Amino acid sequence: MKVTVVGAGFVGMTCAQRLAEQEVAEEIILIDVLEGRPQGIALDLNQAAAVEGYQALVTGTNDPKDTYGSDLFIMTAGMPRKPGMDRSDLLEVNGKIVNAVAAYIKEGSPEARVIVVSNPLDTMVYLMAASLGFEKNRVVGMAGVLDSSRMAFFIAEKNGGGIKDTRCMVLGGHGDSMVPVPQFSTVDGVSVTALLSEADIEAINTRTQHGGAEIVNLLKTGSAFYAPSASAVAMAKAILRNEYRLLPCAAYLDGQYGLSGIYLGVPCVLGKNGVERVVELDLDDAGLAKLHASAEAIRADLAALGEMELLQA
Ligand code: 2OP
Repeated sequence: MKVTVVGAGFVGMTCAQRLAEQEVAEEIILIDVLEGRPQGIALDLNQAAAVEGYQALVTGTNDPKDTYGSDLFIMTAGMPRKPGMDRSDLLEVNGKIVNAVAAYIKEGSPEARVIVVSNPLDTMVYLMAASLGFEKNRVVGMAGVLDSSRMAFFIAEKNGGGIKDTRCMVLGGHGDSMVPVPQFSTVDGVSVTALLSEADIEAINTRTQHGGAEIVNLLKTGSAFYAPSASAVAMAKAILRNEYRLLPCAAYLDGQYGLSGIYLGVPCVLGKNGVERVVELDLDDAGLAKLHASAEAIRADLAALGEMELLQA
């Protein structure tokens, strides 16, 4: 297996580390436009192999040709948010980067599956899929796994522990309009609605919605990377090992949940083809309305991308 991580920032470098340590692929390419950085990180990771005991070889490069023949890409390149910025503020700068990367994926790795992490996520994954022209199920966005993992931590914290048994479901866009779904969030099968008070759940939902911004504000430069890279690599494993895991991801909707022509966070089954299928949950009216509101926010960003002539209609 050959996996390329695009972008050697904190998310990209920790993705490469996790891929190597978990031996997800024998060949890991880390590509960035900055000269020296991906090469330096790759050398450092290779020098950790004897101690950690992994076989994977990491190659750092600035040359897109080194990515050719990849089975899977994790696209992390782009500017992160600064304090006070919305993810949508990154549309133009990151849109141009996505288009440039799509061009060499299409050229050299026409069979690849692609996981997009760059923000604003739901728009960038749409743009990546549109630029590539691949089947939509081969392109998927990482956000729901991360947002759900954040929610799981907050729930476990409130419960006094038990993080390993806590599984959460956060749907919708990866922004303030995301939709935590407590009735489908469980601790070893028990819905959190039976374990926590309504007020506690409400507070956890709100903290989850602002989970990324909380870290941006604390770090002051850059944004979260441990949980985002863990989430992207979990998805990469599910795809490369054909695990058929049910995970919330940004997938292309074609009528599911009454929505079409958009990428949005929904429960997906991930296997060798990428999104093997989208699972439709029986949401209540309020939940469905929130999902549709989230979709509207994404459509507004897509329209803005069109106006910038970055997305061909
Ligand atoms: C986050 O939520 C970077 O969007 C990412 O932390």
